[in-house]
Amino acid sequence: MKIIIISGTPGCGKTSVAKEISNLINSKIISLNELAISDKFSFEYDKDRKTYIVDFEIFLPYVLEKIEEMKRESPPYLIIESHFSDIIPEKFIDYAFILRCDPDELFKRLELKDYDMKKITENLQAEILGNSVNFFVQKQIKAPLFEIDTTNTDIQAVANIIVDILIENDNGENYKIGKVDWLQKLFEEDRLKDFFD
Ligand SMILES: Nc1ncnc2c1ncn2[C@@H]1O[C@H](COP(=O)(O)OP(=O)(O)OP(=O)(O)O)[C@@H](O)[C@H]1O
Ligand SMILES: [Mg+2]
Repeated sequence: MKIIIISGTPGCGKTSVAKEISNLINSKIISLNELAISDKFSFEYDKDRKTYIVDFEIFLPYVLEKIEEMKRESPPYLIIESHFSDIIPEKFIDYAFILRCDPDELFKRLELKDYDMKKITENLQAEILGNSVNFFVQKQIKAPLFEIDTTNTDIQAVANIIVDILIENDNGENYKIGKVDWLQKLFEEDRLKDFFD
């Protein structure tokens, strides 16, 4: 069983793309966010940030147990998707795909999710700074790491790109990390002040 991590800032399309991939290849999905909430690992609610605080010390062993459980069912692929999927230890990762999205488009997607302005700004800043990629780079993982710009590529097309890389129809050269740089783009457009005050 190969384990595929799908990460990225909220709104980049992780859940949608994971579901689409599972329509294309025989795979199981673990959505860490859903698991964390459904199985009550979120003991505290951060009212200010309108978000649950997950106790990773007990959540991670539970997730690893779930992975072992899935292994026994032996699907060819297990997709783990979440904006905090970098919590998964390297030895469990066969591929990591980080979804990216232009901040202007991400703004629209997050507005549709009914996020308040504070949460939208926080997520846009994280995307501009490339936090989702940096988490993996800092871990120096040896598994292949790809980033896919989803701004003008629909959900199905993003899923196809990932599947093509997995089945080695595509060597993934165009999706090696380091090509997406919103910071540079906004700097050149003199628009950084629109996102950071
Ligand atoms: N490639 C895409 N093109 C256009 N719209 C997209 C794309 N990917 C996702 N969307 C839309 O963006 C919204 C957010 O997608 P989704 O919920 O899959 O993101 P997510 O990364 O799982 O977010 P979260 O971290 O909050 O769970 C949805 O309305 C979805 O339809
Ligand atoms: Mg999601």
